[in-house]
Amino acid sequence: MERSLCALLLLGILALQETWAGPHSMKYFNTAITRPGFRQPRFLTVAYVDDLQIASFDTDRQCLRSGPQAAWMERMVQENPWFWERETEILRGNAQMFRVALQNISGYFHQSAGGVHTLQRMYGCEVSPELTFQRGFYQFAYDGRDYISLDLETLTWRTEVPQAVNTKRIWEADSREAETWKAYVEIGCVLWLKKYLEMGKDTLMRTDPPSATVTRHTAPHGEVTLRCRAQDFYPKEISLTWLRDGEEQPQDTEFIETRPAGDGTFQK
Ligand SMILES: *[C@@H]1O[C@H](CO)[C@@H](O)[C@H](O)[C@H]1NC(C)=O
Repeated sequence: MERSLCALLLLGILALQETWAGPHSMKYFNTAITRPGFRQPRFLTVAYVDDLQIASFDTDRQCLRSGPQAAWMERMVQENPWFWERETEILRGNAQMFRVALQNISGYFHQSAGGVHTLQRMYGCEVSPELTFQRGFYQFAYDGRDYISLDLETLTWRTEVPQAVNTKRIWEADSREAETWKAYVEIGCVLWLKKYLEMGKDTLMRTDPPSATVTRHTAPHGEVTLRCRAQDFYPKEISLTWLRDGEEQPQDTEFIETRPAGDGTFQK
């Protein structure tokens, strides 16, 4: 009797490993969506440093907001109002650029006007724990599928669908398009990322360990399911392992996607 109880308790023991190795990233996500009945597409932008949203912009509000968990961004805005105004201007310009791009691309696909289409852009940089440039990206997707991306090594545009050759032709006619973005992701992006990491170090450099709860469900025919819920952790990267008598138990384990709690921490 005593023995079986002990075995059951051991079964519930959980091991959590902190796997965050320390690289950092800054990423911008732009999305433009056409909407029937509106002349202008809606244009949204979210900017992230690591797993934290630092800013967002929406043409429906016409204003740039700092991320809810990035109090240090708010401080930066107050200290440098010109910076925020300039960023807002750039985003309004981007909204126009996306409007034209959506017109071009729906033309390349021979789509009639008035449909609902999306154009997304993702760009940014990743740095090592020593904050040196590791990797950059600059890429577009149309209607949820990869469209075109910049190859930073060769400074050429890589098409992902045949229709994108039209865009490639336009952007390759003027080498400044590729050069400007290469310089941004490799130099400008890294400089800003370092600045944000310095300003927001209390938030961005922290590691919040998870709190974990284990629940146990027994099905009518006697099969037992154990469920582990880890929460309140940061950064997002986590690995969960079941241990039984100190042995890893990888079989019959199902994971759900790690999700944001909305307060700057994550759950899995
Ligand atoms: C759309 O066309 C304009 C004008 O030719 C050009 O400047 C722009 O780069 C094009 N954009 C795309 C995504 O094809």
